[in-house]
Amino acid sequence: MRSPRAASRSVVRVQQPYCWVLPNWDCDSILKCFAQLERGHDIYDQSCQQCHGDAATGEGALPGAPVPNSAGHTWHHADSQLVDIVLGRLEYPGRTMPPFESSMTETDVMDVLAYIKIGLGHAQAEAQATVTTNSR
Ligand code: HEC
Repeated sequence: MRSPRAASRSVVRVQQPYCWVLPNWDCDSILKCFAQLERGHDIYDQSCQQCHGDAATGEGALPGAPVPNSAGHTWHHADSQLVDIVLGRLEYPGRTMPPFESSMTETDVMDVLAYIKIGLGHAQAEAQATVTTNSR
Protein backbone atom coordinates (compact mmCIF):
# COMPACT_ATOMS: atom_id res chain seq x y z
CA MET A 1 0.00 0.00 0.00
CA ARG A 2 1.30 3.51 -0.80
CA SER A 3 2.03 5.73 2.12
CA PRO A 4 0.73 9.34 2.12
CA ARG A 5 4.35 10.47 1.98
CA ALA A 6 4.98 8.60 -1.25
CA ALA A 7 1.79 10.10 -2.72
CA SER A 8 2.84 13.65 -1.94
CA ARG A 9 6.27 13.05 -3.47
CA SER A 10 4.64 11.95 -6.71
CA VAL A 11 2.57 15.16 -6.85
CA VAL A 12 5.79 17.15 -6.70
CA ARG A 13 7.25 15.07 -9.50
CA VAL A 14 4.25 15.80 -11.72
CA GLN A 15 4.32 19.55 -11.13
CA GLN A 16 8.04 20.06 -11.20
CA PRO A 17 8.64 20.10 -14.97
CA TYR A 18 6.42 23.14 -15.40
CA CYS A 19 8.63 25.34 -13.31
CA TRP A 20 11.74 23.35 -14.01
CA VAL A 21 11.68 24.62 -17.60
CA LEU A 22 11.36 28.19 -16.35
CA PRO A 23 14.44 28.52 -14.16
CA ASN A 24 14.93 32.17 -15.05
CA TRP A 25 11.36 33.10 -14.41
CA ASP A 26 9.89 35.01 -11.61
CA CYS A 27 7.50 32.26 -10.56
CA ASP A 28 7.34 32.64 -6.81
CA SER A 29 4.56 30.14 -6.50
CA ILE A 30 3.46 27.17 -8.50
CA LEU A 31 -0.05 28.65 -8.86
CA LYS A 32 1.31 31.87 -10.33
CA CYS A 33 3.30 29.72 -12.69
CA PHE A 34 0.18 27.86 -13.83
CA ALA A 35 -1.74 31.12 -14.31
CA GLN A 36 1.08 32.42 -16.48
CA LEU A 37 1.10 29.25 -18.56
CA GLU A 38 -2.65 29.47 -19.05
CA ARG A 39 -2.39 33.07 -20.26
CA GLY A 40 0.46 32.13 -22.54
CA HIS A 41 -1.52 29.22 -23.93
CA ASP A 42 -4.51 31.47 -24.69
CA ILE A 43 -2.36 34.07 -26.41
CA TYR A 44 -0.49 31.43 -28.40
CA ASP A 45 -3.73 29.85 -29.62
CA GLN A 46 -5.13 33.23 -30.55
CA SER A 47 -2.14 34.90 -32.20
CA CYS A 48 0.62 32.42 -33.02
CA GLN A 49 -0.69 28.93 -33.66
CA GLN A 50 -2.13 29.71 -37.09
CA CYS A 51 1.42 30.15 -38.40
CA HIS A 52 3.66 28.28 -35.95
CA GLY A 53 1.45 25.22 -35.46
CA ASP A 54 0.87 23.25 -32.29
CA ALA A 55 3.41 24.43 -29.71
CA ALA A 56 4.43 20.95 -28.62
CA THR A 57 4.31 19.02 -31.91
CA GLY A 58 4.64 21.76 -34.52
CA GLU A 59 1.69 20.21 -36.33
CA GLY A 60 -0.03 22.64 -38.70
CA ALA A 61 2.90 25.08 -38.97
CA LEU A 62 3.01 27.06 -42.21
CA PRO A 63 6.04 26.59 -44.45
CA GLY A 64 8.72 29.05 -43.32
CA ALA A 65 7.35 29.51 -39.80
CA PRO A 66 9.75 27.84 -37.33
CA VAL A 67 8.18 25.35 -34.95
CA PRO A 68 8.69 26.42 -31.32
CA ASN A 69 9.49 22.92 -30.01
CA SER A 70 12.85 21.14 -29.67
CA ALA A 71 12.94 20.39 -33.41
CA GLY A 72 12.99 24.10 -34.21
CA HIS A 73 15.47 26.89 -33.69
CA THR A 74 13.65 29.22 -31.32
CA TRP A 75 15.23 27.73 -28.19
CA HIS A 76 18.68 28.92 -29.35
CA HIS A 77 17.63 32.50 -28.59
CA ALA A 78 17.64 34.28 -25.23
CA ASP A 79 14.32 35.44 -23.76
CA SER A 80 15.12 39.12 -24.36
CA GLN A 81 15.86 38.46 -28.02
CA LEU A 82 12.66 36.46 -28.46
CA VAL A 83 10.65 39.29 -26.92
CA ASP A 84 12.27 41.73 -29.34
CA ILE A 85 11.60 39.45 -32.31
CA VAL A 86 7.93 38.99 -31.43
CA LEU A 87 7.25 42.65 -30.67
CA GLY A 88 9.09 43.69 -33.84
CA ARG A 89 11.94 45.59 -32.21
CA LEU A 90 14.46 43.28 -33.77
CA GLU A 91 14.42 43.52 -37.52
CA TYR A 92 16.09 40.91 -39.68
CA PRO A 93 16.34 40.54 -43.44
CA GLY A 94 13.29 39.02 -45.08
CA ARG A 95 11.06 39.35 -42.03
CA THR A 96 7.52 38.21 -42.84
CA MET A 97 6.14 37.82 -39.32
CA PRO A 98 3.91 40.72 -38.31
CA PRO A 99 5.21 42.79 -35.38
CA PHE A 100 3.05 42.52 -32.26
CA GLU A 101 4.17 45.73 -30.60
CA SER A 102 0.80 47.45 -30.92
CA SER A 103 -1.23 44.55 -29.52
CA MET A 104 1.04 42.83 -27.00
CA THR A 105 3.15 43.76 -23.98
CA GLU A 106 6.48 42.27 -22.90
CA THR A 107 4.59 40.37 -20.21
CA ASP A 108 2.28 38.88 -22.83
CA VAL A 109 5.28 37.63 -24.80
CA MET A 110 6.97 36.25 -21.67
CA ASP A 111 3.76 34.35 -20.91
CA VAL A 112 3.76 32.90 -24.42
CA LEU A 113 7.41 31.93 -24.04
CA ALA A 114 6.59 30.17 -20.76
CA TYR A 115 3.95 28.16 -22.59
CA ILE A 116 6.24 27.37 -25.53
CA LYS A 117 8.97 26.13 -23.19
CA ILE A 118 6.72 23.36 -21.90
CA GLY A 119 7.08 21.78 -25.32
CA LEU A 120 10.88 21.70 -25.11
CA GLY A 121 12.91 18.72 -24.04
CA HIS A 122 14.97 19.14 -20.88
CA ALA A 123 18.25 19.56 -22.79
CA GLN A 124 16.83 22.34 -24.97
CA ALA A 125 15.10 24.05 -22.04
CA GLU A 126 18.35 23.99 -20.11
CA ALA A 127 20.34 25.33 -23.08
CA GLN A 128 17.80 28.13 -23.59
CA ALA A 129 17.97 29.05 -19.90
CA THR A 130 21.78 29.23 -20.15
CA VAL A 131 21.67 31.47 -23.23
CA THR A 132 19.19 33.70 -21.40
CA THR A 133 21.38 33.92 -18.29
CA ASN A 134 24.49 34.67 -20.37
CA SER A 135 22.70 37.44 -22.27
CA ARG A 136 22.11 39.46 -19.11
C1 HEC B 1 1.38 35.37 -40.06
C2 HEC B 1 2.17 34.26 -39.54
C3 HEC B 1 2.81 34.41 -38.20
C4 HEC B 1 2.22 34.73 -36.99
C5 HEC B 1 0.76 35.08 -36.73
C6 HEC B 1 3.26 34.64 -36.00
N1 HEC B 1 4.45 34.29 -36.57
FE1 HEC B 1 6.24 34.09 -35.64
N2 HEC B 1 7.16 33.80 -37.40
C7 HEC B 1 6.51 33.66 -38.63
C8 HEC B 1 7.50 33.38 -39.66
C9 HEC B 1 7.19 33.10 -41.12
C10 HEC B 1 8.76 33.40 -39.04
C11 HEC B 1 10.13 33.21 -39.71
C12 HEC B 1 10.85 34.52 -39.87
C13 HEC B 1 10.06 35.55 -40.65
O1 HEC B 1 9.65 35.27 -41.78
O2 HEC B 1 9.85 36.66 -40.13
C14 HEC B 1 8.51 33.66 -37.61
C15 HEC B 1 9.50 33.74 -36.64
C16 HEC B 1 9.25 33.77 -35.30
C17 HEC B 1 10.26 33.69 -34.27
C18 HEC B 1 11.76 33.53 -34.49
C19 HEC B 1 11.97 32.04 -34.45
C20 HEC B 1 13.36 31.53 -34.58
O3 HEC B 1 13.48 30.29 -34.50
O4 HEC B 1 14.30 32.29 -34.76
C21 HEC B 1 9.61 33.71 -33.07
C22 HEC B 1 10.24 33.62 -31.69
C23 HEC B 1 8.20 33.82 -33.35
N3 HEC B 1 8.02 33.85 -34.70
C24 HEC B 1 7.24 33.85 -32.37
C25 HEC B 1 5.89 34.14 -32.62
C26 HEC B 1 4.90 34.34 -31.59
C27 HEC B 1 5.16 34.23 -30.11
C28 HEC B 1 3.74 34.64 -32.23
C29 HEC B 1 2.42 35.00 -31.60
C30 HEC B 1 2.42 36.11 -30.70
C31 HEC B 1 4.00 34.60 -33.66
N4 HEC B 1 5.31 34.29 -33.86
C32 HEC B 1 3.06 34.85 -34.63
C33 HEC B 1 5.17 33.74 -38.84
C34 HEC B 1 4.22 34.13 -37.91
